[in-house]
Amino acid sequence: MKVLVIGNGGREHAIAWKLLQSPKVKKVLCIPGNGGTTSMEGCQTLPMRTDDFEGIARFVLVQGISLVVIGPELPLSMGIADYLQQQNIKVFGPNQAGAQIESSKAWAKELMVEAGVPTAGAEVFSDAEAAKAYVSQQGAPIVVKADGLAAGKGVVVAATVEEAHCAIADLSNQGFRLFVIEEYLTGQEVSVLALSDGLTVRPLIPAQDHKQIGEGDTGANTGGMGAYAPTPIVDADCLERIEREVLQPTLATLQKRGIDYRGILYAGLKIAPDGQPKVLEFNCRFGDPETQAVLPLLETPLEQLFLACIEQRLEELPPISWKSGSAVCVVAASQGYPGSYKRGYPISGVQQATESGAIVFHAGTKIQQNQLVTDGGRVLGVTAMGETFEDAIAQAYQSIDCIEFEGIYYRKDIGHRIK
Ligand SMILES: Nc1ncnc2c1ncn2[C@@H]1O[C@H](COP(=O)(O)OP(=O)(O)O)[C@@H](O)[C@H]1O
Ligand SMILES: [Mg+2]
Repeated sequence: MKVLVIGNGGREHAIAWKLLQSPKVKKVLCIPGNGGTTSMEGCQTLPMRTDDFEGIARFVLVQGISLVVIGPELPLSMGIADYLQQQNIKVFGPNQAGAQIESSKAWAKELMVEAGVPTAGAEVFSDAEAAKAYVSQQGAPIVVKADGLAAGKGVVVAATVEEAHCAIADLSNQGFRLFVIEEYLTGQEVSVLALSDGLTVRPLIPAQDHKQIGEGDTGANTGGMGAYAPTPIVDADCLERIEREVLQPTLATLQKRGIDYRGILYAGLKIAPDGQPKVLEFNCRFGDPETQAVLPLLETPLEQLFLACIEQRLEELPPISWKSGSAVCVVAASQGYPGSYKRGYPISGVQQATESGAIVFHAGTKIQQNQLVTDGGRVLGVTAMGETFEDAIAQAYQSIDCIEFEGIYYRKDIGHRIK
């Protein structure tokens, strides 16, 4: 079968790579893809726009593509799944109504409250002054969240009331009109990605991302600087609890609202010191970089999981099979990220990194005149697997050392929270 993957990040490269390991998948096409999908055997990359739903649908029908996988949240929130489903195309990823779980933090919070899902206490405001007054009354630390997709730039964890007031003013100036003001939660942050077919949820192995740019979890938030899986912070009991207290009631409430949610339901959680999992947010797609650590450990062919979700057969599916050991992904970024950075620097050492025992997933890369060059903030992710977490970490760092480009930056402490 032929599969189309929409998106251009490390996540999409990892999905395409995993799909190509399946004996049933003969070819993967990527729109718009990146330098990694362009160079991968069996994969074809097409420079189309991801908001050209009509063009994509036509392409799928002409090419005889059996399955479309949507990587990023933006096309999902714009209704790409609805459009393709209407043309009888099999698509993995929720419809526009379901994608609201990520695209509107106010909507998601209301859903969580209705579902009885443990989450930070919060109030929603459409008036910035009322939001500020509420912050003054609650005190700090407190968390300010703008409603709407903000590419990771809509949340401020404020240490003081003044900081929270400034954040509300800033976000308001940027055009955000709805604010969720929520209680600050303590504990370890983890990501639990689950498959949903609209009736049943099945969690994948739990992962931990590293959101901040600096070592020791300091500095600005990023799209994610590294991840590992499975994380021991979520043991079997905790995962069972997340399924029972978070994933199942959320899906049941989506169903109650008439939303047929088929895709990834990703819960970003804090595990409180007493073991209570609480939801920070939901995403409607695979996490990046978590996917780059989770999928290499997956043994069940990936297209089987996607098709089971689309065809509502998740309940009948045998247990998902995983390799033993751990996987660690370290992200290499451009100097300046998550602020401004330059593009177009030649990248060397990818082959050496691969030969040394890692998988290199490309994100912001492209091929320019036969040369791989940087083309984004997060440039690539180096994933290594090992029988132990320590082996995987050592291998990931040994391999990323092979890679060079001007201004390369990566955190040296991925996984520090469990060492
Ligand atoms: N209630 C909270 N308490 C403590 N930290 C939070 C809270 N909500 C969010 N954060 C921190 O802010 C980050 C971004 O928030 P999140 O809700 O995941 O929004 P987004 O990913 O859309 O930017 C989280 O990864 C987490 O580290
Ligand atoms: Mg998040």
